[in-house]
Amino acid sequence: MSSPASDQPEVRTPEASTAEGADRLGVEQPDAPPSLESEVAQVVAPDRDIEVAVGDNLVEIRDLTVTFGGLTALDHVTFDIRRGEILGLIGPNGAGKTTCFNAMTGVYKPSDGTVELEGNSLGGRKKHAITRLGLARTFQNIRLFGQMTALENVVVGLDARHKTSVPGAVFRTPRLRREEKSSIEHGMALLEFVGIVDKSDVLARNLPYGYQRRLEIARALATEPKLLCLDEPAAGFNPAEKDELMQLIRTIRDDGYTILLIEHDMRLVMGVTDRIVVLEFGKKIAEGTPQEIREDPKVIAAYLGEESDDGAA
Ligand SMILES: Nc1ncnc2c1ncn2[C@@H]1O[C@H](COP(=O)(O)OP(=O)(O)O)[C@@H](O)[C@H]1O
Ligand SMILES: [Mg+2]
Repeated sequence: MSSPASDQPEVRTPEASTAEGADRLGVEQPDAPPSLESEVAQVVAPDRDIEVAVGDNLVEIRDLTVTFGGLTALDHVTFDIRRGEILGLIGPNGAGKTTCFNAMTGVYKPSDGTVELEGNSLGGRKKHAITRLGLARTFQNIRLFGQMTALENVVVGLDARHKTSVPGAVFRTPRLRREEKSSIEHGMALLEFVGIVDKSDVLARNLPYGYQRRLEIARALATEPKLLCLDEPAAGFNPAEKDELMQLIRTIRDDGYTILLIEHDMRLVMGVTDRIVVLEFGKKIAEGTPQEIREDPKVIAAYLGEESDDGAA
């Protein structure tokens, strides 16, 4: 499998990103009537500053430590996430990958260490405050509102950004009606972006598993995150579905997002990540390009004897 890292441009300009995005979405002709696709480009990144010089640290994690009773699930882990990259966080089962996400997103209180997003410390902040600062995630075990439609699940994410007050909501002010309309348009565009717009009115619990995974990603994108954290998004997929999902993750990155991708299947991340951090028993044992990681004896040893369910290692 070839590494994508050497093919990546070092710096992606707003022009390049927008042009790529427009081309991908088929909206390059200015005369074409506005389509749902053209809305996508608008919606997916309306206000975001897409200019990314790879190398600028978006997130800095220093000595992050989480203990459960006597168990140190995460042990003084230090790494950076650079703007515009797909960083893989890999390691055998139980290595501390999900714990690292949970400590970053305010689910667990670290016993030591710091997490900074654009210089803002995330320590001690509530989950919704962390979301508002620009960090969104999906879960290893899917968490959707099963009784709500796909569209409604995404609109919930969009609502996190809206400013309507409670009286506004009760009396249905013009502002609220505007927000409702644009929420639906935004929501549909996000569903289109992740490839499930045909199921917008299906209850989440009735969606096929693969659609649920994509819906979770759409909902996370609705909060307009600076960093999108995906916890084993391809778990339970067959190889073809995994490839499709990795393609989507690449598309999301090309749209100007930064992605932290947890994955247990080492082969899968090799083809999509720019850099990889490897955890084992709560400690960082390696960090580097996919090529470097693939050849690292410590990583090979960590994965040896770990014959995974999906044949990774
Ligand atoms: N809430 C918790 N309470 C107690 N132990 C936990 C909890 N969450 C995770 N652990 C333990 O921490 C270690 C790391 O788990 P986890 O972060 O889920 O690993 P990974 O996601 O890499 O498979 C494991 O030994 C796990 O059993
Ligand atoms: Mg996990």
